[in-house]
Amino acid sequence: MGISAAPGMTSEEIVALSRAHTIFSWSVQGALDPIAIDRAEGVYLYTPEGRRILDFNAQLMSVNIGHGDQRVIRAITEQATKLQYVQPAFATEIRARLGRKMAEIMPGDMNKVFFTLGGAEAVENAIKLARHVTGRHKLLARYRAYHGATAGAMTLTGDYRRWANEPGIVGVIRYPDTHKWGEKEPRPVGEALQGLEDVIKYEGPQSVAAVFLETVVGTNGILIPPDGYLAGVREICDRYGIMMVCDEVMAGFGRTGRWFAVDHWDVVPDIMTMAKGLTSSYLPLGAVAVRDHISEWLDTHQFFGGLTYSSHPVSLAAALATIEVYEEDDLIGNAARMGEVMRRHHEALAARHPSVGAHRNIGLFGILDLVRSQDPWTPLTPFNGTSDEMKAIGKFFRDNGVYVMLANNSIHTNPPLCINEEQLAEGFAVIDAALDIADQAVTG
Ligand SMILES: Cc1ncc(COP(=O)(O)O)c(C=O)c1O
Repeated sequence: MGISAAPGMTSEEIVALSRAHTIFSWSVQGALDPIAIDRAEGVYLYTPEGRRILDFNAQLMSVNIGHGDQRVIRAITEQATKLQYVQPAFATEIRARLGRKMAEIMPGDMNKVFFTLGGAEAVENAIKLARHVTGRHKLLARYRAYHGATAGAMTLTGDYRRWANEPGIVGVIRYPDTHKWGEKEPRPVGEALQGLEDVIKYEGPQSVAAVFLETVVGTNGILIPPDGYLAGVREICDRYGIMMVCDEVMAGFGRTGRWFAVDHWDVVPDIMTMAKGLTSSYLPLGAVAVRDHISEWLDTHQFFGGLTYSSHPVSLAAALATIEVYEEDDLIGNAARMGEVMRRHHEALAARHPSVGAHRNIGLFGILDLVRSQDPWTPLTPFNGTSDEMKAIGKFFRDNGVYVMLANNSIHTNPPLCINEEQLAEGFAVIDAALDIADQAVTG
């Protein structure tokens, strides 16, 4: 059978054609060697040849309910059969029901959302809203942050992915992170907050529209804000009339063991962005949520945003069914419980492997930082780089059927929220073996 006569392609054929005719994200195309995936169920992916791979990162920390949930697939099918699309000026039952449900689970007086196709567009619309509502233009963001790959979101992004996309939009200014790369402990809360307030004063508070932050920083290192930090940012924003925008695209929808990460600290931002876990990635969907004071402002001012696929009925059906799965299976509770199990695995690995310099997790949002030496603190890679050891660890995971995300000197541990103790143990057993490679690099 020829390559064009699918179905039934081999991994080799799939990879060859995908590489020949499609561009992969964030990669030098000639250096790619992707794995072909045919189907997935629960926490496992399967290649066309039937090889099983444990998904220990829920893809991009997004397939929170796990793969292949028939309840969501049924909801998608039913909605697609009844009404596939109307343009967003129309109202639909699924829009009505999902809107009401989101108002129920979102923090405080957040009661209204604008639906987008993904996280970056949610961030773009957060930028618009913050600027329109305040009449100011400056946006404060941090270095250890990722907010998406569209123009505004990319400019807000602090990490290296921004560099090649510069110059970005005007008016973005950095304020200090809670955690400096290459240091084990976070900055003292007071120092981090003072740094933010200093920047606001230097810039002129009357020109600052918004302070953006990932509530718990994701790809830049699972950085959990120290207690008091978010409340401090809230207080500063209130004092200067600035919108506090929390990006929960990755941290939201149960990843941290609560519906939203802000719930751990009882802080309600003015604007919150979401995507990923909203549909568990079964279909593309993002959302930007606002508090009542912004909804009221929008009652008398035009909203200058729009997308052909805003409030797409089939994506909304996936979202409502996904939220019902979180509730029915108590996946948020499972994330909190399994987060405790994950912490014990992290602790055991840190005790056994000198290369594990630090570990953090909040719910099932976890990471191991690898070092050559703990004193002086020497990460296993340079900033924004890799090393022979990290490459060898990546190969080990691939050879041993576990998909994890590696970034800089870190191994992310972010499985689907439906994972159980046995499956966690299965993943951590492979990580345990992989860490032997890192241990050989330890010098002190
Ligand atoms: C915190 C955060 N914000 C925004 C985005 C962008 O979302 P998307 O890739 O859906 O545009 C991401 C994606 O990883 C993210 O982690």
